[in-house]
Amino acid sequence: APRVLSGIQPTADSFHLGNFLGALRQWVALQEDHDAFYCVVDLHAITAEQPDPAVLRRRTLVSAAQTIALGVDPDRSTLFVQSHVPEHAQLAWVLQCLTGFGEASRMTQFKDKSSREGAGTTSVGLFTYPVLQAADILLYQAARVPVGEDQRQHLELTRDLATRFNGRYGDTFTVPETYVPPGAAKVLDLQSPDKKMSKSLPPAGCVNLLDDPKVTAKKIRSAVTDTGREVVADPVGKPGVTNLLAIHSALSGQGVAQLEEHFAGRGYGDLKKEVAEVVADALAPVQQRTAELLADPAELERMLAAGAARARAVAAPTLATVYERVGFLPAV
Ligand code: TYM
Repeated sequence: APRVLSGIQPTADSFHLGNFLGALRQWVALQEDHDAFYCVVDLHAITAEQPDPAVLRRRTLVSAAQTIALGVDPDRSTLFVQSHVPEHAQLAWVLQCLTGFGEASRMTQFKDKSSREGAGTTSVGLFTYPVLQAADILLYQAARVPVGEDQRQHLELTRDLATRFNGRYGDTFTVPETYVPPGAAKVLDLQSPDKKMSKSLPPAGCVNLLDDPKVTAKKIRSAVTDTGREVVADPVGKPGVTNLLAIHSALSGQGVAQLEEHFAGRGYGDLKKEVAEVVADALAPVQQRTAELLADPAELERMLAAGAARARAVAAPTLATVYERVGFLPAV
């Protein structure tokens, strides 16, 4: 079966609806007919200052629990924590030495984050973040990488680095294809529907999977809608309404055209009410399953250790080939 790999950062107490609809839903679907590797990327998480080591540890475990609760099956898919597989950092170094400084400087995520935080506090790790991401993917010879729209540029860099390495040292890496889902590849913030939903914006616009349903309903009720009153999709004129329709459609499985018909002659209030219901129905079982999994952290840790062993069995031979091709003297 073809390989897929994807990753998610353990940088919040809960994933949000963008993570779920843009990425994790595809993780679950792809495990059916792919050899899937899914990674909680704690090395990436420390590219921004993490408040407390205990919190990072906890969030890593909660991230793994949510991933399983959403439907990733740790027997069928290889679910692991990035720092458990040292080959990620090792390959990242080699790839950094193939990456141009100017090339890395063009990454918009770095430009955005460093301008927000100020160059003085921005780490070199944040600068080389996309190269570590390339290492995550290339170590596993992934053919496809399921991600949201915001990751496209990082995947282009990954493809460039794979092609460059292959050209210089001989065919070594699979050049991966970006797999962005139709429909909800970019879930927008409920308060600022000109921006993607993100934990770095004020919390009112971000629906967390583990939020209390009352909190979620309130956030959806308060979502910024648009002028006019018709419930129709129009990404330019009605980004807020279009976003709510996309969320509804992704969770209910009804097409957007079908929903427009359903809401014909009704207002934004009705739309919001139904979206809140659809979201609550989708999240209730995820919350319950997450809580069950977290009740036995030792079992979760055991699953992650088994995942790391399976991941290493693939990653180590790739790194060994890379070291040999680059010209490093064998250690034995
Ligand atoms: P992260 O942790 O920010 O987000 C995880 C996944 O969620 C998607 N996503 C969204 N999709 C739609 N709408 C949104 N508003 C939204 N917000 C987030 C992201 O596109 C992502 O797929 N750099 C990655 C993590 C990573 C990775 C990898 C991904 C590290 N190594 C290797 C793929 C392969 C990131 O920051 O994701």
